[in-house]
Amino acid sequence: MTQEALSNLLHETRRFDPPEDLAASANVTADAYEQAEADNAGFWAEQAKRISWAEPFDEVLDWSRPPFAKWFVGGRLNAAYNCVDRHVEAGSGARVAYHWEGEPGDTRTITYADLLDEVCKAANALIELGVKTGDRVAIYLPMLPETVIAMLACARLGAPHTVVFGGFSSSALRDRIIDCEAHIVITADGGYRKGSIGPLKPAVDEALKECPDVRNVLVVRRTKQDVDWTDGRDLWWHEFVDKQSTEHTPEAFDAEHPLYVMYTSGTTGTPKGILHTTGGYLVGCAYTQWAVFDLKPDTDVYWTAADIGWVTGHSYIVYGPLANGTTSIMYEGTPDTPHPGRWWEIIEKYQATILYCAPTAIRTFMKLGEQIPAKNDLSSLRIIGSVGEPINPEAYVWYRKTIGGDRCPVVDTWWQTETGMIMISPLPGATQGKPGSAMTPLPGVGADVVDESGTSVPNGSGGYLVLTKPWPAMLRTIWGDDQRFIDTYWSRHEGLYFAGDGAKKDEDGDIWVLGRVDDVMNVSGHRLSTTEIESALVSHPKVAEAAVVGSSDPTTGQAVVAFVILRESAHGGGDHVVQELRNHVATQIGPIAKPRSILVVAELPKTRSGKIMRRLLRDVAEHRDVGDVTTLADSDVMGTIERGMSD
Ligand code: WTA
Repeated sequence: MTQEALSNLLHETRRFDPPEDLAASANVTADAYEQAEADNAGFWAEQAKRISWAEPFDEVLDWSRPPFAKWFVGGRLNAAYNCVDRHVEAGSGARVAYHWEGEPGDTRTITYADLLDEVCKAANALIELGVKTGDRVAIYLPMLPETVIAMLACARLGAPHTVVFGGFSSSALRDRIIDCEAHIVITADGGYRKGSIGPLKPAVDEALKECPDVRNVLVVRRTKQDVDWTDGRDLWWHEFVDKQSTEHTPEAFDAEHPLYVMYTSGTTGTPKGILHTTGGYLVGCAYTQWAVFDLKPDTDVYWTAADIGWVTGHSYIVYGPLANGTTSIMYEGTPDTPHPGRWWEIIEKYQATILYCAPTAIRTFMKLGEQIPAKNDLSSLRIIGSVGEPINPEAYVWYRKTIGGDRCPVVDTWWQTETGMIMISPLPGATQGKPGSAMTPLPGVGADVVDESGTSVPNGSGGYLVLTKPWPAMLRTIWGDDQRFIDTYWSRHEGLYFAGDGAKKDEDGDIWVLGRVDDVMNVSGHRLSTTEIESALVSHPKVAEAAVVGSSDPTTGQAVVAFVILRESAHGGGDHVVQELRNHVATQIGPIAKPRSILVVAELPKTRSGKIMRRLLRDVAEHRDVGDVTTLADSDVMGTIERGMSD
């Protein structure tokens, strides 16, 4: 965030009180904060009643070996049973779980009873493929009902899933399959994006050339183009899953049994496998969706417009909503296909009452103009949420007015892949909203802003965002790397979880999250590591050295800007080389990691100890209009860097 943006933020004085009618019937009122404060374990034990336990727990939290937490010790449960079976048993089988909308306009309505049949069939299919409790299964699918079904089938068997975002490349998929040693991959022929087919199966074929341990690939048929087929390994979902029995008895697993691994970018090259376990995660997702969105499962139509390949999709399209028996909308495609009002059309069509999306989408809609959402009736909406990056006050106010009709509270929710659940957010019926502030930690959650020494800063000051007490949906470790878990999150300040974000407390003590303080970028709400992209660039034969920075961008929040030194042999390549390098990053990581611009430079600014001074490069990237396509760096650019270095 630039200094200018920061000082604008600090002068933001607009306030929005909870609407009276919402406050009158709110799920959570202000006294929840004190109750949780007075008895944290009691508070979470109470929330755990949202879940059906096959065997009750005898201790809420075992924190005797920090930072390794055990929640709901001794309890046993099945996550899929909680998400599906129990709603059917309770007579809600006919309730819609998902109104699914395909990008081309095809639709599917999946009730809880349908979901139960499909999940049982998929679980039986996985059993036939030899999947056992504890085995990992990789899922590389677009936004289809089968994505949820596959996840729940894994959960039902106690086989942790790792969902890899469909926009990631074959190399990214390969690395994740290898890291978590998955032996089964579930994918599709392709998915629809921006009106065309985004193929997935070819990327799986490519990845599996280096994953000899993968036995089977289960392929959902979605786009119907020809795909290569490996007999004996590849199986069509519609043949292999559909023939299975709809009967499957779920087994109860320990509350701490692994539920899933989700990879996210860290500050070093290799993505971290964030491990979430069953009981605490489910309780955390169920409570927070209910509290933050004031969820009324009997009447709300809830829409998290995110991809299931990210944690937002895991917690608030799948586990939280299903555990609460919610009716959700699930949309396969992009917001602007086939026309820029697609989301608003969907909201009107299904009478959505809650919308949860990312600031980058809001800023894009803002640019397109309010005449587009004005074409649809959005009066069904009652609460609108934001997640993934700081929402600038102008976007917040536009969102509230234009989409929320000036009546819907905006919930700006701060959390991370690691936290599993929303941690800091207003409560729509109980707290004020301030444009740009995520406000206060939820009841039962501890968050603070501290200085370098770990001391809480006074109101009106900034520092590092930390979490001060364990919470049920917290990550349990980094898959296969306990030491990295300790080093990354628990070593900076004694006893505090280091989130990697900078934040400020205003005069009221409310929290304003300002963005990452480490080498992690946030592009359209997607976390990308500078070092990961640098490694991808350096892996190209023409590149000698590379430095990557996140430069602020009016739409995507941050954009990837790379500075590269070419090898002698590659000189004179011009724009051609730059294009080649951009594509190379897309193949190595995924199109989202493609640098907006690449500057070819003769030298990179470094400290005496050889550390690249990214701060200077960021200045260059932000203060000069480097344009969409890249220019060769002139002496001026390096001049700027040199002048910066000498002062
Ligand atoms: C950023 C997404 C400001 C933050 C759920 C965090 C936010 C990272 C907000 C996690 C918010 C998320 N305000 N910043 N409301 N929400 N962030 O793991 O930098 O993809 O550390 O989880 O996104 O991104 P992740």
